[in-house]
Amino acid sequence: MPFRVRGIVTNATTGENRSGAPLPIPLPRFATTLGRSGDAFPPGPRARYPGQFLLEVARNPLAMMIAMAAEHGDLAHFRVGPQHLYLFNHPDLIRDVLVTNQKNFHKSRGLERAKRLLGDGLLTSEGDFHLRQRRLAQPAFHRHRIAGYGDTMTDYSRQMQSTWEDRRTLDIHEEMLRLTLGIVGRTLFDADVDGEASEISDALTMAFESFNLAMLPFTEYLEKLPIPAARRFNAARARLDTTIYRMIDDRRRTGGDRGDLLSMLLTATDFEGDGRGMSDTQLRDEALTIFLAGHETTANALTWTWYLLSQNPVVEARLHAELDAAVPGRMPGFDDLPVLPYTRMVLAESMRLYPPAWSIGRRALNAFEVRGYMVPPGSVVLMSQYIMHRDPRYFPDPERFDPERWTPEAQAQRPKFSYFPFGGGTRVCIGEQFAWMEGILLIASIAQNWRLRLVKSQRVEVQPLITLRPRHGMQMTLERRTEV
Ligand code: HEM
Repeated sequence: MPFRVRGIVTNATTGENRSGAPLPIPLPRFATTLGRSGDAFPPGPRARYPGQFLLEVARNPLAMMIAMAAEHGDLAHFRVGPQHLYLFNHPDLIRDVLVTNQKNFHKSRGLERAKRLLGDGLLTSEGDFHLRQRRLAQPAFHRHRIAGYGDTMTDYSRQMQSTWEDRRTLDIHEEMLRLTLGIVGRTLFDADVDGEASEISDALTMAFESFNLAMLPFTEYLEKLPIPAARRFNAARARLDTTIYRMIDDRRRTGGDRGDLLSMLLTATDFEGDGRGMSDTQLRDEALTIFLAGHETTANALTWTWYLLSQNPVVEARLHAELDAAVPGRMPGFDDLPVLPYTRMVLAESMRLYPPAWSIGRRALNAFEVRGYMVPPGSVVLMSQYIMHRDPRYFPDPERFDPERWTPEAQAQRPKFSYFPFGGGTRVCIGEQFAWMEGILLIASIAQNWRLRLVKSQRVEVQPLITLRPRHGMQMTLERRTEV
């Protein structure tokens, strides 16, 4: 029997979900430490046998966190060897880590190994170096700059749709990955990676997969587990490097502002700091970071949106009505964003249920207090968007897909960090505005022409890698709404 703990379905059955409903996440069982007054650490789970935590993390880190939140609520503590870990599951606690006391936190050490792929890019660097890189990159993401990318986004959408046929079945996740990879390549590097899309995608996927475990906050202990194939990873990295250094090379030779991110990064000078620009290696690190960070996240958000729309015909009809009225018979563009409020609400609600970045980890530099407990320096704090976004205190009937939660009035009722798909504080996603624009324009430009139907036999299950993917892909059948 499925039962609900704080809105999360927690039965342990698996099997075909012929109705299209997502498969329940099987949760691990732990022994529990109960808090006594005067305890040094908050209550939390205890392993039932040696190595259980490592195994559960490798098996499904999201399930592990859901089980902890279900049992312990806002705050849970556990230990892996000498390492203290805390799961924070309340908007105020999350705000304190990401914003109020952000200076006391670095990203968790998993990133050390991610650096082997991303070098010292925005995602992986810390402290003054991060601030400098962020200063240099920020102008490239200003509103007026990204406004110019709208046409590229819809051009790529049009191109993709020109290959679609009525009643054809395809894996919409692969389609979305190809689409967002093409867009990130063109808008940020003015390069046509489309021809090489599958090769680059394969390399990224391989790199991502071998880094999945290494990126997690518990990683130093995971080294002891058989983590897949360093050789595969090195090959993937070499392929990515070739592509990116070629782009940088081309640009240095041809010069000029091509209106893309690479131009901005090449010409950016750190006037507030050392008065210098970026080296080729720094450019490579930022380029690869943006390639990775700006591609799969948006593709996942779109895939889950198509899935949710297929399961919610009333919402889908309302979306179509908005599109038919706001952009009748023409491609939407940047200027149309204000007249597509419902499309935005659909995307917001989709990222609530399926946040592409499903958890964030931080390491405390100094001891701090939380709810009367002292957290020792070096502790890791975990925060999960997936769990927070399904908390019935803020999102009643949390499994229901309901874009009406995103009217300005409804939104104003909730604390800010009950929803944080893009993180927060100085490390907030630099591509947030880019992602909203891309998501809205792609949903609008596709949904105005097509209805996507989930194939009956499709198993729908989340796969919490670095991003939240559909584990078995997403086979959907295209139904043409109008003549394209
Ligand atoms: C739906 C799409 C996206 C989601 C959900 C998302 C989510 C996030 C989150 C949660 C973080 C913060 C991670 C942390 O604090 O540990 C982040 C950081 C980042 N994102 Fe995104 N992202 C998306 C799209 C993009 C796009 C389109 C780009 C670039 C074009 C991008 C580039 C970055 C970069 C460079 C960082 C690191 C920022 C820093 O630490 O200074 N993201 N993203």
